Amino acid sequence: MRHYFIVGNHKMNVSEFENSQEPELKKRLLNTFTKAVGEGHTIVLCPTFVRMEHIADVVDGTGVALGSQNCHWENSGAYTGEVSPSMLAEMGCTWVIVGHSERRRDQCETDELIGKKALAALTNGLRPIICIGESVEQRKRGKTIDVISKQIDSIHSVCGRLMLDASVIAYEPVWAIGTGISATTEQIEEAHLAIRKCCRERGILDMPILYGGSVSADNADEILSCQHVSGALVGGASLSMEYFRSIVESAIRCAHA
Ligand code: 13P
Repeated sequence: MRHYFIVGNHKMNVSEFENSQEPELKKRLLNTFTKAVGEGHTIVLCPTFVRMEHIADVVDGTGVALGSQNCHWENSGAYTGEVSPSMLAEMGCTWVIVGHSERRRDQCETDELIGKKALAALTNGLRPIICIGESVEQRKRGKTIDVISKQIDSIHSVCGRLMLDASVIAYEPVWAIGTGISATTEQIEEAHLAIRKCCRERGILDMPILYGGSVSADNADEILSCQHVSGALVGGASLSMEYFRSIVESAIRCAHA
């Protein structure tokens, strides 16, 4: 049976789950989470920093993990507006997304910096979800595999193989994020196979590889059924209780297929 990772990245939004006044809906979602976790799947919610404590309270006892959308590479210091991995660990966070393309674009994060963040997360006991992926121009120029291999290489050279063993990779083609147009299963299979090969060549044998980019209740079954897909990093659809529940149910279903 396959074990999937389903990660909800709320970005700078408040999810329905956090705000809902509908106890029945909330209970259904929590029941689905508990069922998924009971079957060996990993469910991670990544709210904004200010909502972390609230989410931690709500999912208490369900086995759902708490993740951060970012962290700094130092544990303390004069870094205005930043949050450190040790602070996140203290709050009960066990996962952290690093290298999201929105941060690469808006905060000019480089592969080297992302490697430093992943290393800091790992040394504080957090598991990094390392995002990689190509732009539409890079895909059009046939550079997809070159781009993602270089991203893995740079991060690997900072963290090393043994450290990366505790990480997961999220392949998120930039052009598929928030567009409603996910990559096709052929494109996903090709990229994930290349990532798997690239990791193996560097001695990282069983790296879980998630797909992200317009994952929805409608396409989750198809995407999760792909051979080298270990789960999904979900943005927009993770804000809706019904859609996110349906994606978690897809994981439960696909694991038995
Ligand atoms: P969407 O699911 O909204 O396309 O976002 C994907 C993403 O960026 C998750 O990190």
